Amino acid sequence: IPVDPFDLVIFGGTGDLARRKILPGLFRRFRAGQMDAESRVIGAARSDLDVDGYRAMVREAIAEFDPASARDSEALEAFLGRLGYVVVDAMGETGWDDLEREVNSDRIRAFYFSVGPRLFGELAERLHKHGMADHDSRIVVEKPFGRDLESAKALNATLAQHFHEHQIYRIDHYLGKETVQNLMAVRFGNTLFEPLWNSQYVDHIQITVAESVGVGGRGEYYDRAGAVRDMMQNHLMQLLCLIAMEPPAKFEPDPVRDEKLKVIRALDPVEPGDVVRGQYEASSDAPGYNEQVENQGSTTESFVALKAHVSNWRWAGTPFYLRTGKRLKARASEIAVVFKDAPHSIFGAEAGRHANILTIRLQPNEGIELGVTIKEPGPGGMRLIDVPLDMTFAEALGPDDADFPDAYERLIMDVIRGNQTLFMRDDEVEEAWAWTDPMIAEWEARGEPPLPYASGSSGPDEALALIHRDGRHWREIKP
Ligand code: BG6
Repeated sequence: IPVDPFDLVIFGGTGDLARRKILPGLFRRFRAGQMDAESRVIGAARSDLDVDGYRAMVREAIAEFDPASARDSEALEAFLGRLGYVVVDAMGETGWDDLEREVNSDRIRAFYFSVGPRLFGELAERLHKHGMADHDSRIVVEKPFGRDLESAKALNATLAQHFHEHQIYRIDHYLGKETVQNLMAVRFGNTLFEPLWNSQYVDHIQITVAESVGVGGRGEYYDRAGAVRDMMQNHLMQLLCLIAMEPPAKFEPDPVRDEKLKVIRALDPVEPGDVVRGQYEASSDAPGYNEQVENQGSTTESFVALKAHVSNWRWAGTPFYLRTGKRLKARASEIAVVFKDAPHSIFGAEAGRHANILTIRLQPNEGIELGVTIKEPGPGGMRLIDVPLDMTFAEALGPDDADFPDAYERLIMDVIRGNQTLFMRDDEVEEAWAWTDPMIAEWEARGEPPLPYASGSSGPDEALALIHRDGRHWREIKP
């Protein structure tokens, strides 16, 4: 279904995120017929380009980051025809009158701040000054949304000077991932799981977001952030919220976000002994972290594992183990809900212990799998084995239906539709920082460097010990 006509301005329109994700994503929505013939995408940046130069850049970007779609050259040329470009200086007056002329006030207007957060205030103020910040316009802001509670509050206050909360779309692209939304469908669309979704039946929950890549060319940003600020405070926190929250009364922005907020507020401060930080070492074919960020003495973590407790009626006593890191064994992200063993084994000790595990695989190979215990076929007596009830989407739905949109394209369309359900509200972001700040302050005060781990491993051994000492083990990181 096409969305209403819109003008989308991308500040930072020549930047990495725009080239890699935003523009290829918009092209896919265009091909899918969601962008009507009047809608436009306007790049805004400092690079001295004319509109043809910008179109050439976007053509190249789409060819590089989505070569399969780019082969539809007729559609690509039609999409490029919908692009505009304005040279704009966020910090000065250059280009703002041109932008004002370019943007059509009869359509939905969205402004994507694909720039560093220090420019958010400047952009908001100038949009306001040039009459583009009316009640119906929307702004989209990228992470990092601050680096602690204080800076996040300041950012929220700056944006609030010119925009109402219902106009501000704080992106966490993990919320746009197909399986993340499916997690809510599975939880709240079935009667099967919800009665068991509590500490009486769930032994523990694991959330793993493992990456095989290193920090790449983003060393300068990353070295100031680290894994907790870059991933834990936002992506893993959001996953934890969706797993742990109470059923919202409606799948609508405020009911969903109210419930997520309650989860963050219920989190206990993390015990210093329950956090393990790591930093990857060089391997035979790739540089180590310090070398990559060009900061020899860096004490920034590229890996973190921790144990969290959601202290409320539903979850008291069920630990949440969270870990994320770069240069690990594989790119593999999943949430595993590990149920308790059956209370009594009627098959005797030799049948072994078996726990049901519901695994929600975010990437790659998106899907949901439930491990169930059955009898091993054959005449050998009552021997038990675990088999997966596999709901791999590509297999269950067929390759066409499983060809779902990338997180960014879905979220951008939600911005145009005016649906904030999958975006973070101001109070959520602040509460998440309020939880991470003391943890960061604690290790900074101790001055302890992160533990080294081998590239291609599962992180430092101490991260394994974090869960072993509770008589549990991490699931293997595998694609
Ligand atoms: C970003 C982080 O938000 O998410 C990156 O800044 C990280 O460091 C990326 O690599 C991971 O996203 P995805 O979608 O590839 O899992």
